[in-house]
Amino acid sequence: MKKVHISPKAVRELSHYAPWVYRSDILEEELHFEPGEIVELVDQRGNFVALAYINPKSTIAARVLSFKNVPINRAFFKTRLLRALARRVAIDSDACRLVHSEGNFLPGLIVDRYGEYLSVQFTTAGMLRFYETILDILVEVLTPAGMLVRGEEYSFKKEGLEPFVREIGEVPERVVITEHGVKFAVDLRSTQKTGFYLDQRRNRNLLTHYIKQRDHVLDCFSNTGGFGLYARVKKKAKVCCVDISAEAIELAKRNFDLNEATGEFVVANVFDYLRELRSSKERFDLIILDPPSFAKSRSKKSAAMKGFKDITVNAMKVVRPEGLIALFSCSHHVGMEDLKKIALQSAKDNGKMVEVLEHFYQDIDHPYVLGNPYSLYLEGLLLKVIDL
Ligand SMILES: C[S@@+](CC[C@H](N)C(=O)[O-])C[C@H]1O[C@@H](n2cnc3c(N)ncnc32)[C@H](O)[C@@H]1O
Repeated sequence: MKKVHISPKAVRELSHYAPWVYRSDILEEELHFEPGEIVELVDQRGNFVALAYINPKSTIAARVLSFKNVPINRAFFKTRLLRALARRVAIDSDACRLVHSEGNFLPGLIVDRYGEYLSVQFTTAGMLRFYETILDILVEVLTPAGMLVRGEEYSFKKEGLEPFVREIGEVPERVVITEHGVKFAVDLRSTQKTGFYLDQRRNRNLLTHYIKQRDHVLDCFSNTGGFGLYARVKKKAKVCCVDISAEAIELAKRNFDLNEATGEFVVANVFDYLRELRSSKERFDLIILDPPSFAKSRSKKSAAMKGFKDITVNAMKVVRPEGLIALFSCSHHVGMEDLKKIALQSAKDNGKMVEVLEHFYQDIDHPYVLGNPYSLYLEGLLLKVIDL
């Protein structure tokens, strides 16, 4: 196995279990490696630091597979997969994330279970090298009725790979899952994540406890209606779902029908829609703001903060006195402290005050491991808007 010298800075970071080495921290003059080749990362004196796979085409050039010098073989992957599976016990749903890439020490691999079916995503050249092994273990351990396997487009481009989608066995067009007693029909072929936002499961349920019977709820950036549908099914709330994607709104309607629930559905840009609501008489007891990742990289943070501020200021204008706003960020670069700043500034602009009722995080099947700050990516606040 080739040895790859890394900078003292990278050695320090890896000693705190950071799982990545950037290209600029690799000290070799020439990077003659096959994309995804397994290498030994060593310090300047040649001492072992970690085992990783390397891809000279990617900015994150090396991703750690193990901080111990162990054989990387079928048994290694099986042990890691079994460890990941064993932790998915406290989830009230027949759909969950079984493998969350670095969060489960399997960088470049995401596996979601939807009932009897699996959605498998490879996101790096390194993990793709173990394609057969991974699928073989998944079949052996989980015996799925079918699998949809993807070389994920966004990450594959960064890795210099051709994206792909393959079906193994038969995967139906729609799989119905039940989450905390609420049914959703999920399209595994959808390109938005793996078709459904599993990471918000816990928050959807938690938020329901703050909704009163027949409250008026505005679910902004609703996607397929997750938050709104919980509110309707569990608290008979009057719900309006808003999303810019007509397809997502169609799926939201279908999910409401599946639960014999009624709602209002709007295809609109939330930024404009909240402005329109300001001049109407409609007011809400709860507004959910769960936008897409406005800041995929640090350089987009300041634009993202402006976007958050805009929707929060306007939501505060159309929420009832003492009403609630659930504000989420699914970007690591806009975290809890940023959300607090946005909430406080928005309240000040409106001459109001805010109280924090809850802190939200991604559900436990999307593990946050210390040492890898990027593994914490979904945070949120439940705010009560109070008059001064
Ligand atoms: C993070 S997802 C929301 C997930 C949803 N809350 C759930 O629990 O399933 C973000 C959604 O925002 C929608 N979206 C993106 N930009 C938008 C905009 N400007 N106005 C309205 N919806 C938008 C996307 O179509 C996507 O469905």
